[in-house]
Amino acid sequence: MHRGKGMKFVGDSRVQDKEQRNTIPKDYSEYPGRTEAFWPNYLLKEWLVGAVFLIGFLCYVAVTPVSLEQQADPNNAAYIPLPDWYFLFLYELLKYEFAAAEYIVIGTVGIPGLAFGALLLAPFLDTKPGRRPSQRPIATGMMLIGVLATIWLTYESVVAVDWETREEYSVDNMVEHEVDETHPGYEVYAQNCMSCHGGVLEGEPGLGPDLLDLPHTADTIAEISVEGIGDMPAGMFDGTDEELQQLANFIVENTDTDDGEGGDEDTEE
Ligand code: HEC
Repeated sequence: MHRGKGMKFVGDSRVQDKEQRNTIPKDYSEYPGRTEAFWPNYLLKEWLVGAVFLIGFLCYVAVTPVSLEQQADPNNAAYIPLPDWYFLFLYELLKYEFAAAEYIVIGTVGIPGLAFGALLLAPFLDTKPGRRPSQRPIATGMMLIGVLATIWLTYESVVAVDWETREEYSVDNMVEHEVDETHPGYEVYAQNCMSCHGGVLEGEPGLGPDLLDLPHTADTIAEISVEGIGDMPAGMFDGTDEELQQLANFIVENTDTDDGEGGDEDTEE
């Protein structure tokens, strides 16, 4: 057989001749005209497609800056670290009982190992020459299951996250505030309130709001400390009256932020 026999040349691409339509290729080597040299023809095409994706991806990354979160806060037990979106499916997998706790090795090594191992072994396990997906039901089926499972697990993981609260951890919402740590009320604050209202009154997402630029007087704050307010339970303060007064003074004296928003100067004594 000569190279290109049974082919029509249209422009610079080859199309199969009509009469040959029904022949099922047994082996590529029997159809030399239908194959192409890996080097450089095929590789060049692959490289071109790869380059288009790479450049597209570079552009995407350039216009969408990575959204960073604030520095890790060891005092905040409500914060749940999350992997990047493309690893969420693996993360979700670890929530299932059969892949967690004493079976964690199944979730971390077993299942991912099986999936990627199967990919590596695919050329050896499935040696049939057919190229159409329908001719390789097992390989196609496994891949479909893999893709669907990945999509499903990612979806499950995304809907389980409270993104609104999470947004508060973003560096964009970072509060740069300083408090007077030598103030006698600071210790009282640290022991009774910091877990919910943050180290520098900046609040803790999901636990308590910031105490910045509060309009309250020291008396009101002392009252809230003891009696609670709204979602804040009563009895958060535990100590002497003197400590309560120091605590209220500490908050009133440190509540103002530089932008001067809110805050009542008269409350400072
Ligand atoms: C268990 C978490 C928690 C602790 C501990 C806690 N708070 Fe709160 N605090 C909250 C929540 C939640 C709110 C918001 C209440 C609402 O508006 O529904 C709040 C609200 C407040 C407010 C009102 C803020 C405003 O904008 O008017 C003040 C003042 C306050 N807290 C002071 C304190 C002080 C002082 C302490 C320490 C004695 C303290 N809190 C301890 C959860 C807490």
